[in-house]
Amino acid sequence: MPSAADTYYSAEAWNTHAPDYQHRFSLGPLSLVAEHIFPKLDAALEQASEAEALRVFIGAGGDGAEVALIAMHYAAGSGREHLGKKLQIVSTDFASAMTEKATKALQERAPAIAASGQIKFITADVQALGPDFADESFHLSLFTFGPAYVKDPEAAFKEIRRITKPGGRIITLSWKTMSLIDDADRARRMILGEDTPSVYGTLVGKWGDEAHNKAVLAAAGFAEIEAKTFEITLEGTDLVEDSLEGLEAAQRSADSSPAIAVLTDGLTAEQRIQLKVARQKKLQENNVTLATAKVTGTLVVAHGIAA
Ligand SMILES: C[S@@+](CC[C@H](N)C(=O)[O-])C[C@H]1O[C@@H](n2cnc3c(N)ncnc32)[C@H](O)[C@@H]1O
Repeated sequence: MPSAADTYYSAEAWNTHAPDYQHRFSLGPLSLVAEHIFPKLDAALEQASEAEALRVFIGAGGDGAEVALIAMHYAAGSGREHLGKKLQIVSTDFASAMTEKATKALQERAPAIAASGQIKFITADVQALGPDFADESFHLSLFTFGPAYVKDPEAAFKEIRRITKPGGRIITLSWKTMSLIDDADRARRMILGEDTPSVYGTLVGKWGDEAHNKAVLAAAGFAEIEAKTFEITLEGTDLVEDSLEGLEAAQRSADSSPAIAVLTDGLTAEQRIQLKVARQKKLQENNVTLATAKVTGTLVVAHGIAA
């Protein structure tokens, strides 16, 4: 029987989860910090020479949340001319079912862009990208909602440094706290006892620490590092579509997420049901569904320049 950590870090588990994965969960919070990403992207686009395409790398990009964010930004107007001309995006994930799902969606929604090769989804382990990813070949690297999910994040940051051009920028984004997980932690403590460690404490917590982000970026060879913490409030509908289908899809996504293996680690089958009931009860008490509940959280954005 694999441990929760084995599941959390396994490409197999993410492959199984891929059909149910809802990148709306990332797109909502990503949109709230987009203003800290796009000025950097736009500035890099401005500086890129006419002849050279601006190359953006995305590590652990799942089924395309970051690409969707970039597409929405340019579709909305700002810097739109660059999308046709110079921008090349390579979004990677070690779960092939994620990159295949993203490729299929792009082919269906934007066949001309898919055919142009301007946006590519490639199956690759960000800890060891290998020779297909040349040294110093990307102007901007995004590793958003990635660091806390990768088994050896230090190795991942070194790889990202290797493929980022000197003077190029890395931007990372991690949750520090999120009310839905706080509720789940509270329910876990009710079931397992008050000294039960928080799920964030064990896996995600250190990425909510600005100093930790800075230290890892510095060790990987980035300079001029900044890290900032943002309090955010999301409408439930930023994360979940307010319809029966939307709620069912969110439930399927939550049930099959490798992160849930960590949440339910050490619980008997009966306790898992108790946990689910406790979380539903919390929503019921507030007379809301996942789609109508407000979600609060804290995000840490860190960025640095490849020295
Ligand atoms: C929570 S998802 C985030 C995906 C995307 N960044 C988003 O915000 O929607 C975490 C992703 O990390 C990927 N992942 C975990 N370890 C990885 C690794 N070593 N290399 C590449 N991807 C990895 C998983 O397959 C999963 O798609």
